[in-house]
Amino acid sequence: MARTTCTGCSTSAGSSTSSWMCTGWRIDRRRRGSPRSRPSPNRLTSIPRRLDCPEAPMLRSEDRRSGPSSPTGNAAPRTIPYFRPSIGDAEVEAVRQTLSSGWLTTGPRVQEFELAFARYVEVDHAVAVSSATAALHLALEALGVGPGDEVLVPTMTFASVAAVVIHLGARPVFVDCLPDSLDIDPADLERRLTPRAKVVVPMHHGGHPCRMDRILELARRHRLAVVDDAAHALPAQYGGRNIGTIGDATCFSFYANKTVTTGEGGMVATRDPDLAKRVRLMAHNGIDRSGTTQTGVRRSWRYDIKAPGYKANMTDLAASIGIRQLERCDAFRDARARWADAYTEGLRDLEAIRTPRPGADVRSSWHLYVIQLELDQLRVGRDAFIDLLEAKGVGSSVHFMPLHLHSYYRDTFGCQPEDLPNAARAYERILSLPIFPGLSREDVGYVVETIASIVRDHRR
Ligand SMILES: Cc1ncc(COP(=O)(O)O)c(C=O)c1O
Repeated sequence: MARTTCTGCSTSAGSSTSSWMCTGWRIDRRRRGSPRSRPSPNRLTSIPRRLDCPEAPMLRSEDRRSGPSSPTGNAAPRTIPYFRPSIGDAEVEAVRQTLSSGWLTTGPRVQEFELAFARYVEVDHAVAVSSATAALHLALEALGVGPGDEVLVPTMTFASVAAVVIHLGARPVFVDCLPDSLDIDPADLERRLTPRAKVVVPMHHGGHPCRMDRILELARRHRLAVVDDAAHALPAQYGGRNIGTIGDATCFSFYANKTVTTGEGGMVATRDPDLAKRVRLMAHNGIDRSGTTQTGVRRSWRYDIKAPGYKANMTDLAASIGIRQLERCDAFRDARARWADAYTEGLRDLEAIRTPRPGADVRSSWHLYVIQLELDQLRVGRDAFIDLLEAKGVGSSVHFMPLHLHSYYRDTFGCQPEDLPNAARAYERILSLPIFPGLSREDVGYVVETIASIVRDHRR
């Protein structure tokens, strides 16, 4: 199974050594001429205290940012990483117990994690694997994707999905995104369907579910299978239904920056018992241990290879972390949602910043908080904006550089930026702010204030 490294965490906070002095909280109202009341000079303090994260005490003390004084007596700059996982004593103890048990690889903890996950998502079958990349590969394989098939995938996504389609000998067909949500555009999806189309893989960007009613209707009409890439979408709902219960198969990630992490890991959720069985078989080298000997006596050493499978099983070590993390999944999600609300409220009067607005019929996991820069109002581009944030100690990232802009797809498939114009345009303006449970109210306020000061200093 090909391994990939997520770029999600790759951008860390900057390490500016210059001292930071509070600039106060001033919003660019120049163009607005708003009659509304003037903002408090220090709006940070107006973010309500209840935003304090319930998970914060679970972080180890070395994880908490400190603000030692600089030699000049000014406060040192804050350093707010793009992401920091919430690992507490329960996870450490779970790993210790698994190590002591003598059973490290796939065993009782994986089974327990799968059952807990299936219960949590309310799906019939959950198969734990080594990553979401593996989950996507195995789900598409189980659906019979192969040479001659086309799989419709978003261009605004991570490397995994298009790569595994190619590994299976099929062709990825890129679909453009909606300009605001960055989710797959159902109208563009319909335009790109051919008789060779076999599967569509909607990806719930940032944890905001796609318009699944439109996608399911298209899938029904064109006899396509639906595999959700839900790497960002635990827990999330569309129209009151949990993501994980809608598509034919749903693939989750437990990479380090996800709501629930096992370090590396993934899950295939499905209501189809045959699909679950095939995924399980192929994740374990195609090995079937359910057979008996000729005398009817089951022997633990005997197995049969049913297919040339992959090695993509989850370990008990990883699952033991996942079991503890899953218990806190709702709290993690709620903390992310509170920080998202705080960003939206804090940035609301900055006309140069467009904030995310998930639809009314969705419940987002808030895996990402992606802002879009109104570039016509700024004298700096997105990359410079990221550098300015980093110089103030604020980590950020970009999700994503669209797949069709990468050299492999340009050179192999002849993709041009204008082939998928919404994604190409959005790419120039998007950036993802820090969002994780262990943020503090002050951290979020500092990020907001830093963005406001950059906008003020660089507006047209
Ligand atoms: C949308 C999307 N799909 C798939 C993946 C792959 O996940 P994993 O690292 O678990 O393979 C990622 C990684 O972050 C992702 O962002």
